[in-house]
Amino acid sequence: MSTLPRLRICLLASEVAPLSKTGGLADVAGALGKVLSAEAHDVRLFTPAYSSIDLRACGARPVPALQKLQLSVGTHSFTYAVLAAELPGGAPAYLIDCPALFARPTLYTQDADEHVRFLFFTRAALECCVRLGWSPTIVHCNDWHTAFAPLYLRTLFAAEPLLAGARTLLTIHNIGYQGIFSAAQLADVGLAAGERHLLHQSDLAAGRINPLRHGILYADAINTVSPTHAREICTDELGMGLQDSLRARGGALSGILNGVDYAEWDPRHDRHLPEHFSAADLAPKARLKAQFLARLGLEPQDDVPLAGIVSRLAAQKGIELMFQALPRVLSTRPLSFVALGSGEPAYETFFASLPARFPGRVHFKRGYDDELAHWIEGACDLFLMPSRYEPCGLNQMYSLRYGTVPVVRRTGGLADSVQPYDRGRGSGTGVVFNDFDAPALEWALNTALDLYAEPAHWARLLQNGMAQDFSWQHQALEYVALYRRLSAG
Ligand code: ADP
Ligand code: GLC
Repeated sequence: MSTLPRLRICLLASEVAPLSKTGGLADVAGALGKVLSAEAHDVRLFTPAYSSIDLRACGARPVPALQKLQLSVGTHSFTYAVLAAELPGGAPAYLIDCPALFARPTLYTQDADEHVRFLFFTRAALECCVRLGWSPTIVHCNDWHTAFAPLYLRTLFAAEPLLAGARTLLTIHNIGYQGIFSAAQLADVGLAAGERHLLHQSDLAAGRINPLRHGILYADAINTVSPTHAREICTDELGMGLQDSLRARGGALSGILNGVDYAEWDPRHDRHLPEHFSAADLAPKARLKAQFLARLGLEPQDDVPLAGIVSRLAAQKGIELMFQALPRVLSTRPLSFVALGSGEPAYETFFASLPARFPGRVHFKRGYDDELAHWIEGACDLFLMPSRYEPCGLNQMYSLRYGTVPVVRRTGGLADSVQPYDRGRGSGTGVVFNDFDAPALEWALNTALDLYAEPAHWARLLQNGMAQDFSWQHQALEYVALYRRLSAG
């Protein structure tokens, strides 16, 4: 155990597994909270008390000192309360309970007050630190939802002694979502007239306010979730309009690859799977595949490779490359395919059309299903991630551990976590393609299927992948080192 002082880390996240989840941010916030707390840091997680959270199951109880609180955002006034829960592993979570804002059918909405929901959340979380008499060393905000925290610390909370020493880190998980709202809603930001010059003036002149940009401007440090993506977001191609602000903060920007919570994602003890396996004993994986094919009603041919995908069906994920590539490969090669996800109607329609075109060989489950996601990792031979951009990506790292060979595009964290298999050396962990087009994906699928047909290569590829270690125990040290640099600086 370290002899350095214990850090007080205020972690702000719009989703935290296992309470709430739409994607990887939830996994990362939950796992980071768990590991930091196991390292004996005083980490406290703040997250909205969405109505979908089962408060009883997570043992949430009211914090007596934090009931019937009042907070105004612009002209809207809200009453809220705070619940405390303990996350698996012991990290305390504070749930900001404001039904007027968080009792909605989904975590994120297209509602006109979406920005109000998260400006409110950010302010309420900082206010709670003060009411709890707690003085964080680090305020770690994540994505646009909480990116106003650094500016709020310099303005609304500038006179607050408990927050005066806090240094700030903004982690960009997904630069494609910036939370932009109209400058006509300026009052909702809550800054006094004399502080409004701190807002990004060109954006204001153009009629918009961009929360993520304000995090980039005012956080003491910024990171994204892989070293390659940290470089990519400074380019015109992948900066999504924020590249100039990011380049200007170049010295404060870094990339830290996400980790994997192997307590949740390991085939040796996965609680969702009836059979467990390891690199030394792969027979149960074959049995899982047979059970899975039967469960999905697919043809029971265990020598035919099974490819899978688990994904938000968003433009980021490169689903449109499959429109052409996947039917072509399914028409010419032995292959079965299972997809799990929901999102853009065009992508859902495409996947929904496949089972009729390839009877007994394709299954599509529209929706979100944690158990099925684990089965796909456990039972498939291949996992597809043809992303247009991918800040980190978690499923390719899960896949490696499950002996499910990732077929990925060389971008962001996919480039940093999957090495192309080299037949000559027997090195590498997956199949990697460069160009964002359908022929490149088709090439990658065919390459993977060729390798599958050569048992010695396939066995080597699986073993290489299963030996990878992306555990959070290791990755969290990079965050701790960054927090320490910030608090010393
Ligand atoms: P992103 O955060 O961009 O969605 P990641 O790869 O970082 O991508 O993380 C996605 C996480 O969400 C993974 O844990 C994945 O298993 C999970 N996930 C995505 N879609 C679904 C779904 N439809 N059902 C179950 N889990 C899903
Ligand atoms: C995002 C990114 C994904 C990343 C996740 C967690 O939503 O799209 O690549 O793994 O956040 O950091």
